[in-house]
Amino acid sequence: MAARFIKIAAFYFVIAIILGIVMGITKAFSYSSVHAHLNLVGWVSLAIIGLVYYAYPAAGKTALATWHFWLHNIGLPVMQGSLFLMLYTQSEGYVVGTIIGSLVLGVGILLFAINVWQHARD
Ligand code: HEM
Ligand code: HEM
Repeated sequence: MAARFIKIAAFYFVIAIILGIVMGITKAFSYSSVHAHLNLVGWVSLAIIGLVYYAYPAAGKTALATWHFWLHNIGLPVMQGSLFLMLYTQSEGYVVGTIIGSLVLGVGILLFAINVWQHARD
């Protein structure tokens, strides 16, 4: 799973940087939380996780790693997409998406932690 995590991380990096550049040019600083989370929970966290699985290949081959991959990559876009729409439309209704997305993401991260505790060995 190492390469899959690193490849999807690079995808979030591109999106987050485009958003950061557009924010800077248009002075749309209200989107900084979306930019920050796509960079840190998308690019930085997923790239580190990819490197963890490169260092501990046995951990990267488990069902927990696959479940975490999908929960993270469904939860984060739902959470940050909803936050983006909430800010863009000034409509509080989208908060449901941020809550559901963050819970899905949180479960994924819990599975990652369990996986590392169980399978990362020297
Ligand atoms: C071309 C690259 C980038 C551009 C143009 C850019 C642009 C911006 C802008 C305009 C803001 C809002 C600043 C404000 O509200 O005062 C911001 C905030 C932020 N950026 Fe970036 N950014 C870039 C790269 C990155 C990267 C690579 C990371 C992390 C890995 C990052 C993390 C953050 C964080 C955490 C914040 C929120 C800071 C806060 O709340 O004070 N940015 N960025
Ligand atoms: C389910 C996971 C997460 C949730 C629900 C969450 C939620 C939040 C919330 C509500 C804020 C305040 C936003 C604001 O003031 O506009 C925030 C800010 C921030 N979070 Fe998270 N967060 C999560 C994960 C993370 C992770 C894993 C990182 C870093 C790796 C991170 C980095 C930050 C940073 C740097 C800020 C301040 C930047 C900014 O919003 O301007 N968050 N987060």
